[in-house]
Amino acid sequence: MAVFGNKNKTYDLTGIKVPVSLGVIMDGNGRWAKKRLLPRSAGHRAGAENLKELCRNCGNYGVKYLTVYAFSTENWSRPEDEVHQLMELFVEFFAKYDPELEEEGIRVRFTGDIASLPEHIQKVCKEGEERSMHRQKMQLIVAFNYGGRRELENATKLIATKVKNGEINPEDITEKMISDHMYLPDVPDPELIIRPSGEMRLSNFLLWESAYSELWVSETLWPDFGYDELTQAFRDFANRDRRFGGLSAKEKEGKA
Ligand code: IPE
Ligand code: IPE
Ligand code: MG
Repeated sequence: MAVFGNKNKTYDLTGIKVPVSLGVIMDGNGRWAKKRLLPRSAGHRAGAENLKELCRNCGNYGVKYLTVYAFSTENWSRPEDEVHQLMELFVEFFAKYDPELEEEGIRVRFTGDIASLPEHIQKVCKEGEERSMHRQKMQLIVAFNYGGRRELENATKLIATKVKNGEINPEDITEKMISDHMYLPDVPDPELIIRPSGEMRLSNFLLWESAYSELWVSETLWPDFGYDELTQAFRDFANRDRRFGGLSAKEKEGKA
């Protein structure tokens, strides 16, 4: 039985098949704030604090790639001051918590249409990635100005340019080639996607990569989503029958 402790938590890995690659849609900040009669910005702040906790827990559980949805290509449609607050919170998070991420051995990467972000945000992304390249325990991949359709649009343009330049023929295009033209081709597809706050949708998150992801939704709002629920999600994931269009292991053995 593999049990170990870290800062008053016990990570009990018995019976838990932890996903190597995990996606989390950090939703529900607004509702969390509303319940407390606070402005939405307070919810976003609480959500950012909770990300630090998720990183620590995932790192200690043995997750290798944690992709979190922080700002979608559709989130620009929110009021200007909310968008501004989210951008500034993003800058603040990495300024404030990078030493802790360093201590935890967490490398930071970004996925999304980063080139369209304001210059100072792009700088935070670049510096955060460079500063953390050597960290080995886990990769935190922040989906910022991310949209699954935007990512596919980008991949299509890259491939179409290669066809136009005569580097490849249309018949050479394969699923593998499309995967290789996603923003971060070396990051494995998420085995599990967790969405707090109850919505049963992907909201444009990792559309290509989530083809066979297990989905796990909880009613808890993101700022309240903690260690116990993460543990429950992993336990449920370990019991899922992932068939990938084939037969389950039991059926293959003729036992079902
Ligand atoms: C998630 O919380 C944060 C972002 C989408 C940036 P929301 O702001 O969507 O919170 P709800 O869904 O309104 O509660
Ligand atoms: C998804 O949440 C995006 C992020 C958490 C960053 P939204 O709140 O934007 O999604 P919808 O609008 O409920 O689909
Ligand atoms: Mg929301």
